[in-house]
Amino acid sequence: MDIEIYYEPRTKFNKRIQPIENKIFFSRIIRNWTKDITLESIISNLDEDFEACVITLEDCSGINSHVFENIDNIVSIFESYSNINTLIINNPPKFFYDKLKQLEETIKEKNYSYPKINATQIGKVNQGFDSNIIGQTLAKKAICRKLIAQMIRPTKKPLVLMFYGNPGIGKTETAKYLSSILYTKGSLLREQMTMVGGDSSVRFFKSTSHSEDSFSKHLLNRTSNVILLDEFALAPPFFQTTFFQMFDEGIYSDQNFTVDVSNSIIICTSNLQTIQDMEKNIDNALLSRFDGFIHFTDFTDEDKMEIIDKMICEFINPKNMKKRFIDKLDRTLIRQKIEKALPQLTNVRNIRKYTEDVIADTLMDDLLND
Ligand SMILES: Nc1ncnc2c1ncn2[C@@H]1O[C@H](COP(=O)(O)OP(=O)(O)OP(=O)(O)O)[C@@H](O)[C@H]1O
Ligand SMILES: [Mg+2]
Repeated sequence: MDIEIYYEPRTKFNKRIQPIENKIFFSRIIRNWTKDITLESIISNLDEDFEACVITLEDCSGINSHVFENIDNIVSIFESYSNINTLIINNPPKFFYDKLKQLEETIKEKNYSYPKINATQIGKVNQGFDSNIIGQTLAKKAICRKLIAQMIRPTKKPLVLMFYGNPGIGKTETAKYLSSILYTKGSLLREQMTMVGGDSSVRFFKSTSHSEDSFSKHLLNRTSNVILLDEFALAPPFFQTTFFQMFDEGIYSDQNFTVDVSNSIIICTSNLQTIQDMEKNIDNALLSRFDGFIHFTDFTDEDKMEIIDKMICEFINPKNMKKRFIDKLDRTLIRQKIEKALPQLTNVRNIRKYTEDVIADTLMDDLLND
């Protein structure tokens, strides 16, 4: 039996197997398997002229591990009663991989790894930054410098960055922006670290069972090499240490999977204000593994007005608002009203709420009297 293993996102694997004719999915073969199934009925499923059997991680999720423990029996059934001569496997869990290794000495293995980002991409990040992220020019410069450092680095180690500063000033938005520019076809992998703590998180990050959702599965299937660990400092230290190897070597390993995250950009965010605060809250050994600490600065009045103007355009816009409402609103007046509250408006979230309120107020009298 030829065995081919592809550690790669499901989307890539799907494209790979699409042109293969005469393939059958393992899930289809075993759909009707029960404890007391007879050999005849298994074989009757193999009647057609299949030559390749495709096994995916999803197949593995729904299946009790004893099926994979018995892969040697399954392979001998294939060999004796069907034309299946190749197993094509996507992201097998470790215990299954070990079984396969016992079965065949030579296995074709392919590990997808994301390439390094290049100078053109960094140029694009720099170019579009200010029009997407307002008031963070210093952060932009620091990020670009770190991207260049990663580009010239002789190793494939991930670039590990901490974005810190007050809420609602663009940390998460910047991670999304970077991913959208660097991996135009993919989407950012985002894990909320505030949720981390209980039993379910242990299972999620250590992947104790191959059939459950896990961080390693998310990593395996990621379509962008920007990985966001949001609110990192709020995760208990026990979890933070889980990331040592990932930060150091670009490998994330749990009980079921070993994932290659080389050349990735790992972004952790935090509301802590200073590096000293971080030293108090984050495991110091882990902290020393960060390549850079990027401070996001509070908005100046100019920044705030730029955000307000953008927001007014977004709200009072024929795309989002009926013409009869637009006709009742005076943009200059609304702008002036919001400007009066400028000192209290410290982040994009409260600017948005306040803008909404001011517009609603202006419309209210009119609407309620209609
Ligand atoms: N500097 C900015 N320029 C443009 N939009 C911004 C900026 N900062 C925040 N926003 C907008 O405000 C919202 C919240 O921003 P974001 O999620 O980036 O905040 P954050 O800094 O990550 O806050 P927190 O620490 O609470 O997670 C987003 O919808 C984003 O589009
Ligand atoms: Mg955030």
